Amino acid sequence: MPPPRIAPSILAADFTRLGAQVAEVVDAGARIIHVDIMDGHFVPTLSMGPQVLSALRDLDLGVEFDVHLMVERPERFVADFASAGADAITVHAEATPHVHYAVQRIRELGCRAGVAVCPSTPLAIYGELDVDRALCMTVNPGWGGQAFIPGSPDRIRRLRALLGDEPDLEVDGGIDASTAGPSAAAGATLFVAGSAVFGAPDPATAYAEIAAAAGC
Ligand code: DX5
Ligand code: ZN
Repeated sequence: MPPPRIAPSILAADFTRLGAQVAEVVDAGARIIHVDIMDGHFVPTLSMGPQVLSALRDLDLGVEFDVHLMVERPERFVADFASAGADAITVHAEATPHVHYAVQRIRELGCRAGVAVCPSTPLAIYGELDVDRALCMTVNPGWGGQAFIPGSPDRIRRLRALLGDEPDLEVDGGIDASTAGPSAAAGATLFVAGSAVFGAPDPATAYAEIAAAAGC
């Protein structure tokens, strides 16, 4: 299995000092930054567009950008995010009838390809796909700061069994020092944490505590 890594989500960062906040978690050890894109359709909320990603990329912090598209028909936008600096792009299985095509396009653009599922979506789709990254939502997408859905470790375990050892299994939503451990034990390898990192008084300490709980 890939080594465990924490991906702080900038959705919970202070946008007036976004570069400084990202630099803080990079100093604490983060090597991957999660970027949540919300379109007001697939999820009811709006977040940011590719300009924010390209501004962060221009800081040259040496990190990987993990873009999570919570967007209808995400295949329309993958090229924009690839040229803005994404290293990995994840689309939702529920957001397009053309998931296989979207995965192909993402790889053609030189990025790692991920597919995400909402909490009620059957996991069987992963049996039909070859992905670099499977993202198991552990809350309903659309908002930061929600509580981890308690049945998630069982779902993570079933997903890991379907995927085999190779791909990253990413968990997203309500990840903190208490939920990272059970998620890791169930087979998760990539842990998105928004409010538990950037909502904490000291993001670097919070990052270290989650990393320790995840076995990083
Ligand atoms: C939720 C987003 C998450 C969000 C997680 O729809 O996909 O990445 O930033 O936030 P927390 O860690 O606060 O649950
Ligand atoms: Zn996300």
